[in-house]
Amino acid sequence: MPRFIAPALPARRVIALSVFCLTTAVSATFSMAFSTPALAQSAILEGERFHPQVGEHAMVATSHYLASQIAHDVLEGGGNAVDAAVTAGFALAVTQPRSGNIGGGGFMLISDEKSDKVIAIDYREKAPAAAYETMFQNEQGEAVSELSRYTHNASGVPGTVAGLALALDKYGTLTLPQALAPAIKLADEGFVIPPRFAEGLDEAQDRLKQWDSTRKVFYKPDGSLYRAGERFRQPDLAATLKRIADKGPREFYEGKTAELIATEMKNHGGLMTAKDLAGYQPTIREPVHGTYRGYDIYAMSPPSSGGAHIVQMLNILEGYDIHAMGFNSARTIHVMSEAMKRAYADRAEYLGDTDFVDVPLKGITSKAYAEELRAQIDLDHATPSKEIAAGHPLPYESNETTHFSIADDSGLAVSNTYTINFSYGSGIVVDGAGFLLNNEMDDFSAKPGTPNAYGLIGGEANKVEPEKRMLSSMTPTIVKKDGKNFLVTGSPGGSRIITTTLQVVMNVIDHGMNIQSAVSAPRIHDQWLPDEIRIEDGISPDTIALLEAMGHKVSQQEAMGAAQSILIEDDGTFTGGADPRRSTSSAMGL
Ligand code: GLY
Repeated sequence: MPRFIAPALPARRVIALSVFCLTTAVSATFSMAFSTPALAQSAILEGERFHPQVGEHAMVATSHYLASQIAHDVLEGGGNAVDAAVTAGFALAVTQPRSGNIGGGGFMLISDEKSDKVIAIDYREKAPAAAYETMFQNEQGEAVSELSRYTHNASGVPGTVAGLALALDKYGTLTLPQALAPAIKLADEGFVIPPRFAEGLDEAQDRLKQWDSTRKVFYKPDGSLYRAGERFRQPDLAATLKRIADKGPREFYEGKTAELIATEMKNHGGLMTAKDLAGYQPTIREPVHGTYRGYDIYAMSPPSSGGAHIVQMLNILEGYDIHAMGFNSARTIHVMSEAMKRAYADRAEYLGDTDFVDVPLKGITSKAYAEELRAQIDLDHATPSKEIAAGHPLPYESNETTHFSIADDSGLAVSNTYTINFSYGSGIVVDGAGFLLNNEMDDFSAKPGTPNAYGLIGGEANKVEPEKRMLSSMTPTIVKKDGKNFLVTGSPGGSRIITTTLQVVMNVIDHGMNIQSAVSAPRIHDQWLPDEIRIEDGISPDTIALLEAMGHKVSQQEAMGAAQSILIEDDGTFTGGADPRRSTSSAMGL
């Protein structure tokens, strides 16, 4: 099946970055300015509706143009993809505080072509030592979501600072102060507020203004809103980042920042202590590995469920001629939905932190098990979710978390997803430290069998336990072809992260799309419970009618995910797709 490959680009730098002003550029400007010269070389790409950014040496794709530009500057200055990723990670903590963070955690996959190694850095938050199984239940033993989402106990011990510092230490060439410098400058001098930033703070104000420490950071002294176009400064955050730059990453865990977090907890009855912070360490793990139509798939291992289930779904779908069945045809959506349901049912039963529970990872990701599951799929009729397993979902949407992808011509590729869970996490800023705390404890099953904020059911394997990592859906993914980095992708979107990432992989491998088309194309999602296929705008009424005739319930939803992605063509050309579902997304090549 042919892929649309762009002809080789002339050997020259595609863009000259310095002409753009950091604080005033918008993503549309980047898009126009950076795509035109390169794409004019390619008749095939010109014939398509969506056009990727192109680079000869490297590519970055993040959800914020300031972070993309900063990462690009690092690469242009001779830094590698890991230097750029760590610098972007800290920059996003300033420019996109609803999900970029130092008060949360995440996962970073790094592929090093030269050593043929892919490693996974797990910097997921951990439950405090005093956490206990029933901490989010009332006296009747019922789960109380308010407790796991909007209190100081909603926060796991943050991992971001330690995780990013570990990546830099292992693979980077910059010092930590160099990687932090752009973020400190942005926090100190401020940046021009884009509409999405202003709208987010407007929508969340009831929740955020409940906390004095949060109100002081995100709203004007009289409580009014910052407007798009105004400048936004974060002096407390600048001081925190500066302390980390001066004293090293352990400052966050053992220095003044740790003291501020511990005091914040103590003042509000939170369980997290200075000892929890001092004890936090990120972990290097083996990523989950699978294959799909000859490509090697690497994705995040537990405590994320992402890798296990993207490989499981791809294994099931490999048995169908998806290309012949057609992109988003009723038949294709049907088999995708059936594969998704079965994967999410297994997720609920088996997945948890492998430092605490045994997860049958080998079985879940095996081709033989996929064959058994595929045999259950009726090509003409939907399997009701209750026949796959039982449950009582409580669907609720949140769409935060943020993903970025960076790759360079030294053979390094970085796929990073990190989060504070909800938009603005718990909504609680650490007083005097200027950053938001996560509410990741809601990703545990507050009571096994009860759904979390994403309607995901968790089992015993994901119950709250001291110092355990809560189950995640984050799916940073790197696909390799003949030993070379090929596709770098991932997404935010709560429970929809795994299926969003799945569809980017399928759009490229099965449907031959260029990376911008693969990222922009309408998506679907099925998570077993509730028993419905969620679709974005762009699936035809005829297709929906055919799916309904097969027995599916189809529910139209808002845009799902934001899969900032990179595809490296056979000739080494880097192509980048910024997800249009985020107005600030930006891919930039060099
Ligand atoms: N907090 C969302 C996730 O980790 O899946």
